[in-house]
Amino acid sequence: KKFKVVICRDLGPDVMPILTSRKELDLTIWPHQTPCDRKWLLENIQGAAGVVVMLSDKVNDELLDAAGSSLKVVSTMSVGYEHVSLDALKNRNIKLGYTPDVLTDAVADIAVMLALMAGRNTKETMHIVDKGEWANHTWSPFSFCGPQLSTSSLPISPDFPRPSSATKVERTVGFLGFGRIAQATLARLVPFGVTKCIYSTNPSSTTKPSDRSVDDALAERIHLPKGSIYRVDQQMLAKESDVLFVLAPGGPATYHVIDEDFLKRMKKTAILINPSRGTLVDSDALAKALKEQWIWAAGLDVVEGEPNVAADHPLVQEPRCVILPHIGSATFETRLGMATLAAQNVVAGILGAQMPTELVLSDK
Ligand code: GLV
Ligand code: GLV
Repeated sequence: KKFKVVICRDLGPDVMPILTSRKELDLTIWPHQTPCDRKWLLENIQGAAGVVVMLSDKVNDELLDAAGSSLKVVSTMSVGYEHVSLDALKNRNIKLGYTPDVLTDAVADIAVMLALMAGRNTKETMHIVDKGEWANHTWSPFSFCGPQLSTSSLPISPDFPRPSSATKVERTVGFLGFGRIAQATLARLVPFGVTKCIYSTNPSSTTKPSDRSVDDALAERIHLPKGSIYRVDQQMLAKESDVLFVLAPGGPATYHVIDEDFLKRMKKTAILINPSRGTLVDSDALAKALKEQWIWAAGLDVVEGEPNVAADHPLVQEPRCVILPHIGSATFETRLGMATLAAQNVVAGILGAQMPTELVLSDK
């Protein structure tokens, strides 16, 4: 007897052989390069032992009922799993595979890139060049300036005036959520001269609550002084961060954690970066914060309601809001790694072997 496996996206010629080479499997593959049609999925999942899904495929009671009791494993090609009802899986004793770790570097790279792009007026200035208007914007001593992220070579002598909007050259980076991606982002910023890291975690965070010794061990590993990484409450996080990275899971527990109240507490020179999930940031509040200059700039790889973000969206209209279309993990290396894990997880789950990266549901 063969095990039926439904694959919601073609995983490409390098990865599909992990599935097609298994004689035990009978594959049903969504044949288009668009999100898998729900009706097609509900029809085809009947009797399946495994399914490989994407972020756009909701895994809920409806889907699991359609599959029936044959379903043993759901494998998502993503690190996030807010599209998956964990309770529904647990109740039915179905395993969940996801793709952590392989995308940590790619997303941390994008986080730093967004921080640099947002702070340095990239959106507005690239637009000027693209439109052929460079010649109308000749150099002047303070044109197009933004706050500098890197401080390792800034003059600290009192003979040099500070910008009136910034009173010190030290940078405090803040993290809302402090998991693997946040820590990898921080590590990248150490050579920039970052001296202080504050973070706050949310109830839905996948990371265990850390204590002093854990924070100090991390500091030592990434060459920051002892005591330079510590947990704060969200009010302090808003107030102290020069750059704030939102790197927490999505879902109801983190919905709009960055709201008007939070943004109002932030520094006027602060930069808000969100490479995690659009739902964490109240878009209307952020648009207002940028328009009224409560904060300096924002860099987003995700937006509430994506991919339906029109050109007249208030955030798209903001010159200091850099927006990327959710490409955090989009490197050849990382996507191959994610697709490979997604394929290996479903095979192992069906055949009763150890899945390379299972989200163990009893821990939740
Ligand atoms: C991307 O957003 C992911 O969850 O993998
Ligand atoms: C999120 O899952 C992370 O790896 O930080």
